[in-house]
Amino acid sequence: MNDTTEMIRLAPPGALDMALGEAMFTQRAIRRLDPARPITDEQLRTILDAGSKAPSGANIQPARFLVIRDRERIREFGALYHEAWWAKRRDEYGWSGKADIPDGSPYRMPALLADEMADAPVVLLAFSLPSGVAAASTFPAVQNILLAARALGIGSVLTTLHPQVMDRVYAMFGVPAEMVFHCCIPLGYPRGRFGPTVRYPTSQTTSWNDWANPPPWA
Ligand SMILES: Cc1cc2nc3c(=O)[nH]c(=O)nc-3n(C[C@H](O)[C@H](O)[C@H](O)COP(=O)(O)O)c2cc1C
Repeated sequence: MNDTTEMIRLAPPGALDMALGEAMFTQRAIRRLDPARPITDEQLRTILDAGSKAPSGANIQPARFLVIRDRERIREFGALYHEAWWAKRRDEYGWSGKADIPDGSPYRMPALLADEMADAPVVLLAFSLPSGVAAASTFPAVQNILLAARALGIGSVLTTLHPQVMDRVYAMFGVPAEMVFHCCIPLGYPRGRFGPTVRYPTSQTTSWNDWANPPPWA
């Protein structure tokens, strides 16, 4: 994209006809991805087009996405993701392996994803041009991407990396140094169901007119 790139209008793709409420209320972290069931380029385009429709500050649209769908490159990236995931756990908890993860910990499934990232059918890396609102103008696009994938029946999960591997990730994919990395999103059909999510009730996370006042449905 350069200064002469023209903006376009896009009609909603027919493939995204799942009701918005169903997509929002069933979208969840899917970490067990089916390596044998491919995602098509057309699906990826639909997902990325949905991302492009998200809001950004002054409509500057700083978000940029790197699609990794070459098997060998995903494998190489998977090794860095594994290293990054464990570097984070080492920093946070001093863990160095699965034996350190307590029973019932919410990190058990993410640890599995660290093992399986190398087999993900597709991995998206979300970057942005540098800007004062880089993250705030990128994550709305990321959320649209998660929802569009859900509407297509494709599982995804928002994940991050660790400074320890970032130079190698940038070098591996030729990412210009000025680009700001935000998150990593593996995509694939779920091995299993989307299943229900649990969240805090909005009666407990919302204030009404004053911080001390609950909303009317509390
Ligand atoms: C900033 C952020 C970082 C995350 N990092 C990881 C991660 O490193 N590994 C992982 O498996 N999931 C990661 N997740 C996914 C969350 O664990 C997941 O969205 C959350 O547990 C809710 O899951 P659910 O929608 O299935 O209920 C991350 C999510 C966010 C928003």
